[in-house]
Amino acid sequence: MSSYQIIVGSMLGGTEYVAEACEETLNELGHQTLVHLTPSFKEINTKDQHWLICTSTHGAGDYPDNIQEFVSDLTNTDQDLNSIKFLVIGIGDTNYDTFCYAAKNIEKLLISKGCKKITDALTLDMSEDIDPEDLSQRWITEINDLL
Ligand SMILES: Cc1cc2nc3c(=O)[nH]c(=O)nc-3n(C[C@H](O)[C@H](O)[C@H](O)COP(=O)(O)O)c2cc1C
Repeated sequence: MSSYQIIVGSMLGGTEYVAEACEETLNELGHQTLVHLTPSFKEINTKDQHWLICTSTHGAGDYPDNIQEFVSDLTNTDQDLNSIKFLVIGIGDTNYDTFCYAAKNIEKLLISKGCKKITDALTLDMSEDIDPEDLSQRWITEINDLL
């Protein structure tokens, strides 16, 4: 059983539903979870934690407003983050040539800080007729052996 900090970047609210669906599945699989809808870096446990970042992309490849301060604090920290293992789910739209840039950029940032990637990010294209909650739940179930 692992302890998951679920960190949400969302402008219009859609990604919050994805995060809640992930929480449900992680709990069913026996993991502990805490969802951060307004993530504050200093309040999120960094010791022996799993982090699940669920973020959309806005502007032209930008982070959603609610996660910008978190990303800035993460960028500037000199804390030891080596014990964090992480997953990323990106929500975006392939009509933008900056498809899921927030997810891709935070993945690079976490790696640069010494965090360990559990597996490649899941990116979901909202221009397709998809159910992002369902796809995220299936993905977590499929990779459960790694969690
Ligand atoms: C103004 C605006 C800018 C966007 N820019 C991007 C972008 O650069 N890259 C991308 O992949 N998706 C982009 N999107 C698509 C959103 O990521 C997508 O609609 C997502 O479902 C929104 O999730 P949210 O409700 O959690 O904010 C943009 C959407 C809007 C409305």
